[in-house]
Amino acid sequence: MTENGKPIPIGAPSDLHQLYKIEKPFVDLYKKIADCPACELVRFRTKTVPGSGPSTSKLMLIGEGPGEKEDELGLPFIGRSGQFLEKMLLSIGLSRDEVYITNVVKCRPPSNRDPSAQEIQACDNFLQQQIAIVNPTVIATLGRFSMSLWFPNEKISQIHGEVREIDGRLIIPMYHPAAALRNGSLRKTVQNDFLKIKKSLIQKTKT
Ligand code: URA
Repeated sequence: MTENGKPIPIGAPSDLHQLYKIEKPFVDLYKKIADCPACELVRFRTKTVPGSGPSTSKLMLIGEGPGEKEDELGLPFIGRSGQFLEKMLLSIGLSRDEVYITNVVKCRPPSNRDPSAQEIQACDNFLQQQIAIVNPTVIATLGRFSMSLWFPNEKISQIHGEVREIDGRLIIPMYHPAAALRNGSLRKTVQNDFLKIKKSLIQKTKT
């Protein structure tokens, strides 16, 4: 059973029990997120979706915002995009429960619309706290909204898969998994970009 008493869906991509575990460093922050009234998304959400994964992860993935399934279960990337993401992680030898995964906004935008600049701004303080807690050596941004936090004037089609060092971390802009699901010809590109994550993790561990 999940925390709200609903049965865990059969065939779910990962061990959800594991993903619901909240480590001590996140407890206060996740409570603040659950109580947050800072933007209008509070009116639409079922559950807040703070993030999943260990506080000691070397890799952090940052998506856009929760979709329907994520809003229902309170976990990021648990629907179709999440299944694709999990496959990509497995292809580089990582299981999703060893990666810290979150989004720029922690509440679902209605009808999966894009999050507004004001909503992203209202949630940014939470993301910054997550980055401070996890202190990852590599951050991969998934899609243009998280990419814009580091590269506001760039185009994802031009810089995806490029590894840049910023403030002692490697930041890698990646296509959003949903883009690869919509456009099959992007899948190979995304797979190659995931290899950059693997290389970056190895490189950063050595230096
Ligand atoms: N898309 C995202 O950007 N984040 C999720 O958590 C799910 C789908």
